[in-house]
Amino acid sequence: MKKIIIILMVLMLCGCSNSVAITEPKEIWLATDIHYMSELMHNNTDVFTTLMESSDGKLSEYSDDIFDSFLNTVIENKPDALVLAGDLTFNGENFNLIEIAAKLAVVEEQGIPVLVIPGNHDIEYPYAYVFIDEKVYTTQQITEQEFKELCGDYGYNEAISKDESSFSYVYALSDNLWLMFIDTNTVASPNAVRDETLVWVEEQLKEGIKVLSITHQNVLDVSSLFPYGFSITNRDKLVELFNTYGVEYNFSGHSHIQTTIKSDTLIDYVTGSLTVSPLNYGIINVNEDSSVNYQVNHVDILNEEARERFISVTRSKTAEEVNTLSLSDEIKEAMIDYAVEINIYYFAGDKDTLVELSKRSELNLWKEHGSATFWGLYLNSILEELE
Ligand SMILES: [Fe+2]
Repeated sequence: MKKIIIILMVLMLCGCSNSVAITEPKEIWLATDIHYMSELMHNNTDVFTTLMESSDGKLSEYSDDIFDSFLNTVIENKPDALVLAGDLTFNGENFNLIEIAAKLAVVEEQGIPVLVIPGNHDIEYPYAYVFIDEKVYTTQQITEQEFKELCGDYGYNEAISKDESSFSYVYALSDNLWLMFIDTNTVASPNAVRDETLVWVEEQLKEGIKVLSITHQNVLDVSSLFPYGFSITNRDKLVELFNTYGVEYNFSGHSHIQTTIKSDTLIDYVTGSLTVSPLNYGIINVNEDSSVNYQVNHVDILNEEARERFISVTRSKTAEEVNTLSLSDEIKEAMIDYAVEINIYYFAGDKDTLVELSKRSELNLWKEHGSATFWGLYLNSILEELE
């Protein structure tokens, strides 16, 4: 009897939210890092296209079309919720968020709850520009208050609990299943969970309901090479709370890389950017037994254009470094081609193909001639993490 009481007390103390059975299955669609840029904000000017051709591989000239196509597919498939995990806007332009909010209203009119959090590019981001007639002008940014006004109806205002010190909130998908959105992009504590928010998170987890957590930045490190910038700076405190209260799943974005990171107690499903090849989004299924499945899908327009953009950006960045090495053109070309291939499949989250690529002889060229370069270290970190 004493033993049973102790077990019950432990269950009550730890919350053990994952032991709660889900009565009805739920499907949640998740897109992130849309970096939406209205056509009216760039008007296909050469100056914007040139900027994107030397940027990080986003197909931002067509973000309007990609986002519309994605939202139409959401409406056709009617998931139980649509989650947008931050970096909604290209670089924090107020006008872009107004357009996004209008598009999301159409989704909600179809009975699909839309739930958003801000990313690091959305609020008071200092590079909000508009591109008109080959000229670049600063444009109105988004304050925290304006984000709440424009996006409050997408989660925060419908929450069963709100954190007053950030845009964090809990949305009850059912009595037995909560989605907890943790905002790590406040002006007060960029890239971190505020102390007040951590207190609020713990209060919610004490309720003992099954919780899936959503953040913009990653909770577990995507890459040993770039933990700073990708991961939440005080992620250890969050991981500790998740461990204490049995939160097993986090969903994040930010790195634009599709990957799954596991620790002993937590899985962080990282979804790639909706506007970077292969235009991924995630589908989360919570089953009756409370188990969770995550699968990747992709928007099915502009795939070739997105791939070409990604290849050309990767190629020019790799070539910049490889061309400083004293090697034959043939060896340089082989190294560049190989790095481009690795990067494509790394961002797509295709580990099987990466394993095959890791057996190719071009890897030895990188080991022999490029191990001290940034791209050499980068490729090494990707392939090491496959093991
Ligand atoms: Fe981000």
